[in-house]
Amino acid sequence: MVVKISADWGAASARIDRRIFGTFVEHMGRCVYEGIYEPSHPTADEEGFRGDVAELVRELGATVVRYPGGNFVSGYNWEDGIGPKEDRPVRLDAAWHSLETNQVGLHEFFNWSKRVGLEVMEAVNLGTRGIGDAAALLEYCNIEAGTTRAQERRANGAKDPFNIKLWCLGNEMDGPWQIGHKTAHEYGRLAAEAARMMRFIDSSVELVAAGSSNMEMPTFGEWERTVLAHTADLIDHISIHAYYEPKGGDVDSFLASSLNLEAYIREVAKIIDECSPTRRIGISVDEWNVWNQTRWNETDKPRVMTGAWPAHPRLIEDDYTVTDAVVVGSLLITLLRNADRVSMANQAQLVNVIAPIRSEPNGPAWRQTTFFPFQLTSALAHGVAVPTTVHTPTYDTALYGDAPVVDAVVTRDEDRCAVFAVNRDREAAHEVVVELGMAIVSANVQVLTIPENGTQDTINTADDQPVGLEELTCVIDGNTVRFTLPTLSWAAVSATLSKDEM
Ligand code: AHR
Repeated sequence: MVVKISADWGAASARIDRRIFGTFVEHMGRCVYEGIYEPSHPTADEEGFRGDVAELVRELGATVVRYPGGNFVSGYNWEDGIGPKEDRPVRLDAAWHSLETNQVGLHEFFNWSKRVGLEVMEAVNLGTRGIGDAAALLEYCNIEAGTTRAQERRANGAKDPFNIKLWCLGNEMDGPWQIGHKTAHEYGRLAAEAARMMRFIDSSVELVAAGSSNMEMPTFGEWERTVLAHTADLIDHISIHAYYEPKGGDVDSFLASSLNLEAYIREVAKIIDECSPTRRIGISVDEWNVWNQTRWNETDKPRVMTGAWPAHPRLIEDDYTVTDAVVVGSLLITLLRNADRVSMANQAQLVNVIAPIRSEPNGPAWRQTTFFPFQLTSALAHGVAVPTTVHTPTYDTALYGDAPVVDAVVTRDEDRCAVFAVNRDREAAHEVVVELGMAIVSANVQVLTIPENGTQDTINTADDQPVGLEELTCVIDGNTVRFTLPTLSWAAVSATLSKDEM
């Protein structure tokens, strides 16, 4: 069967908020220290940030960066990270059983983000701290001058306010693993009070309430309804966190993980519509990725969370395979398809910690397999997401029943069109015809698949990076473009449409 992908120009398309290409830097493991920051590295700039990593970050094309956590933020004092570095305290980070040296804090991170082209999305600590501290942080960041806190920021080197617009009201407060874990009612009230106070200080902020940590949480649904009952008129976004892995070695279900993300987004959208019928609240998928959580929970976590308190230990440095990259590509397709509801998304995390970029101390930095679908989707997906029909065979999965073998989405920005497609078939290639309904002037297809002499488990390492993008032969015929999606692959078509037909 030839798979047919067609764009439905008649149906309403949704504007893509470029903030769906967000990333995430947590003070966790080696994401900050030995990741983005390593003053003794040969490529380090005068602020101590690695030049080779910064180069890859720019290439990745992320738009927004969530910071400084994650679980870390629920025990963090932002004041520890300002002022002269030599005076900064060393603290226990109880979230990750590590030492936090505070050599990177608000100013260093904000300046670095600016240099690499990322907008900061700051999270406030609603675990060990409360609304007064959230307000103080906002005042420090966004008030130009004339208050003691604004003057302190200026004295610390930032004459101009940071003007941070995006703020997360805590992190995963529904999870018993979270420092300061709360019931939905407790969190909802606290988030509402924090939101009110923060808006009094700066009415232009956009606020994200913490939704469920995953769809399988026993409180999922009730959590969102209760939190929205408290906050619906005060927040702009509610979060979703979603991590996927081949549970019990079930790769077929793993490859169809985007069906879970799709259902999760739709369910949260339904709850938003019930709880906030008139005020638009977006969904911020502010942590998503492939993560081998079983290994973390069963093997690494029991070891890491006891004993010594090392500074920046190696934590959840997953090596990503071809299969993982195909799943990442398919999750991005789902985010785009739901552009009508997904206002933001952050792949977790940026460097070393379940990340598209890896680095070694005093050594190289390189692209993991998952780097490529993110980078190319961000580069090509502009304008609107167009409703897309895919005529495809299906296959049976233990977790989700029938799953489409091929999934795809079309995006368009004037005469530039992109098609993102995934082939979940581990045994066979599939011939694909993309019908764009308008004359195609030119098209180019890039694919990520199993490399020559590789397998579905091939990874990129510091010494050898066999997985990347290759150009795929395609045939343009009027309104259609044809190509063959290789076995287990993710591909992106970049096409130019004829202006005469617009
Ligand atoms: O990204 C790693 C961790 O996953 C984050 O700290 C936490 O929010 C989530 O559980």
